[in-house]
Amino acid sequence: MEKQLVAVMDFGGQYSHLIVRRCRNLEVYAELISHTTTPEAIRNMNPSAIILSGGPSSVYADNAPVCDPEMFDLGIPVLGICYGAQLIARAMGGDVKHTGMREYGKTELLVDDRSDLFEGIEEKTIVWMSHGDLIGSLPADFEIIAHTAGSPVAAFRKEHIYGIQFHPEVVHTHRGEKMLKNFLFSICGCDPDWSSESFINSAIEEIRATVGSGRVILGLSGGIDSATVAVLLHRAIGDELTCIYVDNGLMRKNETREIVHTFKDNFKINLEVVDAQDRFLERLRGISDPEEKRKAIGDEFIRVFDEAAARIGDVDFLAQGTIYPDRVESAATSDLASRIKSHHNVGALPPEMKLRLIEPIRDLYKDEVRAVAKKLELPADIVRRHPFPGPGLAARIIGEVTPDKLRICRDAGAIVEEELKNSGLYDKTWQAFAMVGDDLATGVLGDERSLGHIVVIRAVESVEAMTADFARLPYDLLERISNRITNEISGVTWVTYAISSKPPSTIEPC
Ligand code: XMP
Repeated sequence: MEKQLVAVMDFGGQYSHLIVRRCRNLEVYAELISHTTTPEAIRNMNPSAIILSGGPSSVYADNAPVCDPEMFDLGIPVLGICYGAQLIARAMGGDVKHTGMREYGKTELLVDDRSDLFEGIEEKTIVWMSHGDLIGSLPADFEIIAHTAGSPVAAFRKEHIYGIQFHPEVVHTHRGEKMLKNFLFSICGCDPDWSSESFINSAIEEIRATVGSGRVILGLSGGIDSATVAVLLHRAIGDELTCIYVDNGLMRKNETREIVHTFKDNFKINLEVVDAQDRFLERLRGISDPEEKRKAIGDEFIRVFDEAAARIGDVDFLAQGTIYPDRVESAATSDLASRIKSHHNVGALPPEMKLRLIEPIRDLYKDEVRAVAKKLELPADIVRRHPFPGPGLAARIIGEVTPDKLRICRDAGAIVEEELKNSGLYDKTWQAFAMVGDDLATGVLGDERSLGHIVVIRAVESVEAMTADFARLPYDLLERISNRITNEISGVTWVTYAISSKPPSTIEPC
């Protein structure tokens, strides 16, 4: 069965991804496409619907992004949102006014026609507006189907083409979901068919068709993305898959043991565990600068992974846990974040190995990966585990990574996680861990004064790690964490709590 697609044409609006996610939440698969996509290419994609996103520009701005108006003749239903609606109006001979005024925020929409897009919606409803330009008038063959006090044309229709000046994708538009449902299901005739289960079935089919009887390797890090790919591939091709797990000695407490237990013992996946702890520690000796540490870890990872891949030999494919935001980011820019990520996920495999790449979860958002992981029966501890940086605990050790600081950082981090889970706050925090540096502070042990390490606890709330605020953890929880760390971990005399936000701080200290 061919996958249904809603093509969301991106004009750079801040809500473009949200439109995609809203469609997927309604179980219709959607993808962002560039506004430069040609009508020919769109026809080949065979989408059930096209949605034009909002955008930051005025249609009158120099270099304002435009699309080829021939796409409106493809016979595919189109919904233009905000800037997208203005583009349609302008392309079809309407008048978009540059008023210099903004209509911004919650606005009352007065619905003039409730026969299709607004079917089942009240005559007056609250919508979210965010625009400067205004559609002033439309060609004669267009119908106005809603207006507001400030916008005479808040929604219009011409045959299969619709435009709305407001944003149905944001929660402030009270009946936004119903409007999208009307568009997708009644106007475009979509069937809700996108779910974790349907994804798993079609991914398995696709993997089998691609891989045939070839052999696949996958770098397993213990993170949710590679874990999900491992189980998906194993379901599809069984023993043709070998996972490589590099134990760099910088993992969380018991992580290696749990990975072996989950993937090798429970899922019966071929797993090659490379014990490279000494190599990494040796490589990191004497390095204090955060960037140098990252580079050393990245380079060493590539070396160890390549050696393991060569040892396994006779491999045809390299699988990767790339997800949708990674792809979108690296297509838009080749920024450092995406480079770092690929750096840690894959080795720079020797070209003579001539491996083909497979990325089975390349179309999924993080929350969809979690839903798929759950469906694949990955243990709850992996599905809900906080993100962990590529350089592992080295990102939480300020200055040189020494065995002693590594022990303190790992054991203290385990106490933080455990106490947070016990108090029911683990799932409410984005990340929570312990960090340690070289400063020593005085403490009293028995009757003696002694110098020991300062452990800093960091717990943050965040949306996708772009910004973060320190979590307002209860004092009694912080007290328990502090007592346990000083009692159970030798060499620690002080425990402090990090209360700076991102920005100006970052989440990890190095
Ligand atoms: P920062 O510290 O920049 O971190 O606020 C933002 C998020 O990214 C994670 N992080 C990394 N992930 N490789 C990764 O794969 C890295 O080098 C890296 N550094 C930070 C961090 O844990 C947080 O979730």
